[in-house]
Amino acid sequence: MRRTARSVALRVLLDSVSGRRVSLETHFEASEFGSLPDRDRRLATELVYGVLRNRSLLDYQLDALLERPRSRLDPEVLQILRVGLFQLNYLRIPERAAVHESVRLCKELRKSSAGPLVNAVLRRFLRNRPAAPDADDTRSLSIRCSHPEWLVRRYLSRYGPEGTRKILERNNRPPLLQLWVNPFRTTWEKFCRRLDREGIPFQIHPHLPHCVRVNSRSFVRHPLYRQGHCFLMSPASQEIAQLGDLSRCRILGDFCAAPGGKSFILHARKRSDARMFCCDLSWSRLRQMRARADLYRIPQLGAVQADLVHPPFRIPFDFILLDVPCTGTATLRANPDIRWRLAEEDIQRMARIQRSLLRSSFRMLRPGGQLIYATCSTEPEENHEVVENLLDLEPEAQLLPPPGADFLKREAFFAACLVRKGEGTLSPPHPPESGVENPRSQRSC
Ligand SMILES: C[S@@+](CC[C@H](N)C(=O)[O-])C[C@H]1O[C@@H](n2cnc3c(N)ncnc32)[C@H](O)[C@@H]1O
Repeated sequence: MRRTARSVALRVLLDSVSGRRVSLETHFEASEFGSLPDRDRRLATELVYGVLRNRSLLDYQLDALLERPRSRLDPEVLQILRVGLFQLNYLRIPERAAVHESVRLCKELRKSSAGPLVNAVLRRFLRNRPAAPDADDTRSLSIRCSHPEWLVRRYLSRYGPEGTRKILERNNRPPLLQLWVNPFRTTWEKFCRRLDREGIPFQIHPHLPHCVRVNSRSFVRHPLYRQGHCFLMSPASQEIAQLGDLSRCRILGDFCAAPGGKSFILHARKRSDARMFCCDLSWSRLRQMRARADLYRIPQLGAVQADLVHPPFRIPFDFILLDVPCTGTATLRANPDIRWRLAEEDIQRMARIQRSLLRSSFRMLRPGGQLIYATCSTEPEENHEVVENLLDLEPEAQLLPPPGADFLKREAFFAACLVRKGEGTLSPPHPPESGVENPRSQRSC
């Protein structure tokens, strides 16, 4: 198949519904994308994100235009129609070109027999555009703003129609390019001076050290980005990695650490004589974290593969950041594919894992030690309810007042600061190597 913007976008969209859990980022880093000329790469990205962000609305239009049930379409033909309709709805591409290219995609995917159907449906749309439902009930919002009905129902019950509409509309806006400027490669002042010199518009975050917003989507191909002088990270994630006082902490755990964004910030914040263990269950994600640490020139990052439900450590920790796996419902703006992969049952499944991870991690704290529990979920079952469960089960657990950062709330991320009651003493400066137990399956990497 010829590699065009549309054919590459189509392949990503087909993959996103195939059950393979490949992130969009992985696709965009793949050579298929990278080898497209700039303009085509921009179009392919726009098509993928656009179709994912507007999928329910496009399907609603299709249902009105098709003469047979949508469920009877081949997956390839369904995606071709979605891509075609998206272009006609939202892009300034000549209508004839959008229709013609969609029919050509049928041929390229060896679905020539579907060409006349694709042609007829898209032309029907041009003659008579079906209007989106404009009410604020669950179904209408779910179609108009393209989110799963179960999630809209949850938001409506908590935030009402106006609050829900705001969240859904925000999720459908392209994310901003927010960066953490890497102090292991550059200084923040040097970085901004270079942007200034090259006329790249940027804004410095008012409170967060090293957080810069660059107003240019193509910055991810700039040498400063490619050479690891900065990386993409939302202010809310940066804020989480800034929580807690590390000045008295000598043994730190970054639990559920990979692929490492927060580990790198903690590494920059910790005392020079402190030791940090970055643990994760996934070898492949730890390898990714290692590769990133090399690119960012982060020295001596201690990475350990371990299942933290059965932790391998005997030493007590002064500080733990526990950034648990979650449904990611607070990240739908950057990851529009997640909304179509999640099911409501995933919330309870995640909450069970989160409860056991929090309990086993809490037990590794020394008296007086601090633990930050964090998620990027909007759902109470994964947030407050997990913390309340711990407070019920562990009499030594105490919840500190919630972190007050505005953007944590605005981006709907969650963080809770817990301490283990008791005075406890500061861990010795150089914990003996033998303090880390590495059972057969849990090796450093
Ligand atoms: C939200 S991600 C962590 C993101 C990371 N803190 C960062 O800033 O890049 C959650 C991580 O938890 C890990 N994980 C899931 N179950 C685990 C377990 N039982 N023990 C250790 N890590 C686990 C996953 O492999 C995943 O990398």
